[in-house]
Amino acid sequence: MKKILILVFVALLMVACSNDSSETTQSPAPASKPAENTVQRATDAVQQAADQVVEKGQELKDEAAQYVDKASDTVTAKAEELQAGAEKLVQQGSDRLAALAPAAATFDKGSSIYQQSCRSCHDSGIMGAPRLGDERYSADLDVLVENSIKGIGRMPARGGNRNLSDDDVRAAVEYMVEESK
Ligand code: HEC
Repeated sequence: MKKILILVFVALLMVACSNDSSETTQSPAPASKPAENTVQRATDAVQQAADQVVEKGQELKDEAAQYVDKASDTVTAKAEELQAGAEKLVQQGSDRLAALAPAAATFDKGSSIYQQSCRSCHDSGIMGAPRLGDERYSADLDVLVENSIKGIGRMPARGGNRNLSDDDVRAAVEYMVEESK
């Protein structure tokens, strides 16, 4: 039994060897066709890979362009936001100045009236006139103005200057009150 198996095995081996030798002894002409195919396939594969690389490159380029677009949109929006904020601040600043202007003007007016018509007594405190900083100036403003217009004690009406309007006297009193704080 074993012998038969060995014989079959040897026979198979011989067939196999003869096939091998028949392939190697074949002329190279028929082998060139598969070789050409292989080269063609390799070329196609390289071409395909190159196409894919170009395609991927274009995709990446488009994507990058989108990011740049988005970034510049964000920068533009942020810049506009900042500009709007700055404009608002400038507006607020000039609004505040505009609101302060009348008070400043009244203060200037009151100051110059005080220099002209009131300081002769109130700087020195002559005849018992309360000097700037006196606590009497912390009394109710309307009462102080009324007394200054009518005159009080030894102070003549409007400080003796009949040309001053009620508003002029009020401005002077406001200045004195402000300077006494
Ligand atoms: C001739 C001096 C004299 C002049 C000028 C004068 N005052 Fe007087 N003033 C006095 C005297 C004196 C008193 C204090 C009166 C008293 O005893 O209550 C006084 C008091 C005041 C008081 C305090 C009033 C109160 O209710 O307590 C005010 C305010 C005042 N003067 C404003 C002015 C103003 C404003 C002017 C300028 C337009 C002015 N005075 C000019 C003499 C003067």
